[in-house]
Amino acid sequence: MKTIPYGKQFVNKEDIQAVIDVLKSAWITQGPKIEEFEAALCKYTGAKYAVVVSNGTAALHLSCLAAGIKQGDEVITSPITFVASANCVLYCGGRPIFADVEGDTANIAPQNIEKKINKKTKAIIPVHFAGHPCDLQEIKNIANKRNLLVIEDAAHALGAEYKGSKIGSCRYSDMTIFSFHPVKSITTGEGGAITTNNKKLYEKLMMLRSHGITKDSSKFKVKRPKAQGGWYHEMQCLGFNCRITDFQCALGISQLKKLDKFIQKRREIVKIYNKKFGNNNFFELPVEKDYVKSSWHLYPIRLKDGYKKRKKAIFTKLRSQGVGAQIHYIPVYLQPYYRHLGYRNELCPHAQAYYQRTITLPLYPTMTQAQIKRVIQVTKTIIAKYGR
Ligand SMILES: Cc1ncc(COP(=O)(O)O)c(C=O)c1O
Repeated sequence: MKTIPYGKQFVNKEDIQAVIDVLKSAWITQGPKIEEFEAALCKYTGAKYAVVVSNGTAALHLSCLAAGIKQGDEVITSPITFVASANCVLYCGGRPIFADVEGDTANIAPQNIEKKINKKTKAIIPVHFAGHPCDLQEIKNIANKRNLLVIEDAAHALGAEYKGSKIGSCRYSDMTIFSFHPVKSITTGEGGAITTNNKKLYEKLMMLRSHGITKDSSKFKVKRPKAQGGWYHEMQCLGFNCRITDFQCALGISQLKKLDKFIQKRREIVKIYNKKFGNNNFFELPVEKDYVKSSWHLYPIRLKDGYKKRKKAIFTKLRSQGVGAQIHYIPVYLQPYYRHLGYRNELCPHAQAYYQRTITLPLYPTMTQAQIKRVIQVTKTIIAKYGR
């Protein structure tokens, strides 16, 4: 019996051909596909600028650097996320501060952000968990009042919408980051991007992506660079190599054309799950608030009170019967590294309650009807049997 994974990429003939075409061309990195992919991302999201990078973690790191996060600064984020959403603050010498989440979406709750703001706070990194956008208007209002930057972690949320705006438009934020890891909305293998409407941030991000070097003569700091030849370039800040290759971007361009279809397929599967799982005694279904369109990156169910202590047994049985369940996420501050930094247990009670009850079921665009049926049937049987 083959396990049905919780997420999976879809790569077809056109995607493969697009990559081959680049591999046969003169440029396999830093060629025309980089800008083409960036332009396509701008067109899709509605943002003015996009910077494509090697992965979503690099996108977070560079965004924090561009935001000027440094030693002594605090950045508020969600505990229900992948560790990268907080690690990026540590990379810059800052301290991630965890604000508790909403019980249903597991997104950071705006009122809890407010409680954590002090003089050291510089930015907020809301994470659109499972592809469900956070309440960005509320978060932006708080940020404006306290003069904070907002960096959306939209690793899960390419293709999602908030109040009619595409996530990535940066209508309510300074920067938005994406990941193109294979389980995400679209893939480039490894890959990521940052979108922004702010020219200064864009220029900073472009330099940071490539060693802090600029070749743009209008930006040179040396007084008479014309005395130098065409080789001249300047390193103006400490950057990194966070570049992505041209053949990955060719894959990204090809995948982006299919994004809306991917999301549509995810929605159809969610509709079936919701119908077949509806009104059961054992668990609650993921929600979609009326002001958003989720990209349905994940389908996390929440075990009800009487059943949550059986999570481990249910999870183990699902896995043993070929349903590749997953858990998203262990609250970040419970990780040994964070405990070592002094973060206390019970910091965010709602996040911990969520962690105790959640199980992610398989959801990806190419699931067959037979696979969907199997997930439903196996899950129902196991929870009824082992949930007590
Ligand atoms: C919420 C979130 N942020 C950031 C990342 C990091 O992205 P990447 O794996 O592309 O570095 C991930 C990856 O899983 C993620 O889930």
